[in-house]
Amino acid sequence: MTSVVGVIAAGGSGERLGADRPKAFVVCGGRPLLEWSVDVLSEVCDEVVVAVPAGHEEDIAAPDVRVVAGGASRSDSVRRALAAAPDAAVAVVHDAARPLVTRELVERCLAALGGDVDGVVAAAPVSDTIHAVDAELTVRASPPRSELWAAQTPQVFRADVLRRALDADAQTLAAATDDAALVVAAGGRVRIVCAPRENIKVTTRADLLVAESALC
Ligand code: CTP
Ligand code: MG
Repeated sequence: MTSVVGVIAAGGSGERLGADRPKAFVVCGGRPLLEWSVDVLSEVCDEVVVAVPAGHEEDIAAPDVRVVAGGASRSDSVRRALAAAPDAAVAVVHDAARPLVTRELVERCLAALGGDVDGVVAAAPVSDTIHAVDAELTVRASPPRSELWAAQTPQVFRADVLRRALDADAQTLAAATDDAALVVAAGGRVRIVCAPRENIKVTTRADLLVAESALC
């Protein structure tokens, strides 16, 4: 039987949110932000590991999850959480900052894994035109919008492929904003699953209010 581990990245400080505690513990819809994701991943995965900021390991109220200290970067936190589940064959990586994730979306990502596909990313087509610029903010390229997708989480991987991709130096891990990019850079094949734009990432105070109104 394939063992699926849910990895929740909750180790950030939430600097842009500017709350009095790490973002994952900020109350949203009546409970700590990360608990919404713990609930969904616990329904779908055989085990769940959460990476929280070091020193906050005791702050989680969910008894069935394993908790590890996160790292200096998001990717390092994912690496540390995945290391706590060495026997898992599949990893579902999800950001605690996306409390609107649904079981249906996780299951669609899991279903798309297999064959020659090493990883699956929930992503939404972009609605804005995206310009790539240089240091002077001069536009250097404007890729066709039809080719651009905004990556979200969940992201689902063959665990061995993800482990290899995360076996990188601290600088490479810190530069990566996304597990899929690391897997592709390591030679893996990653597909997109179309996800609802509503699966927002809580970054700012305004995002928190939007998430709260969707959850209540
Ligand atoms: N994350 C993590 N470990 C880190 C940094 C981030 O597990 N060292 C997690 C966050 O907890 C979050 C997700 O990665 O669930 C996405 O990161 P982001 O939205 O940037 O959260 P923060 O890093 O906490 O926020 P900020 O960048 O504003 O400080
Ligand atoms: Mg961050």
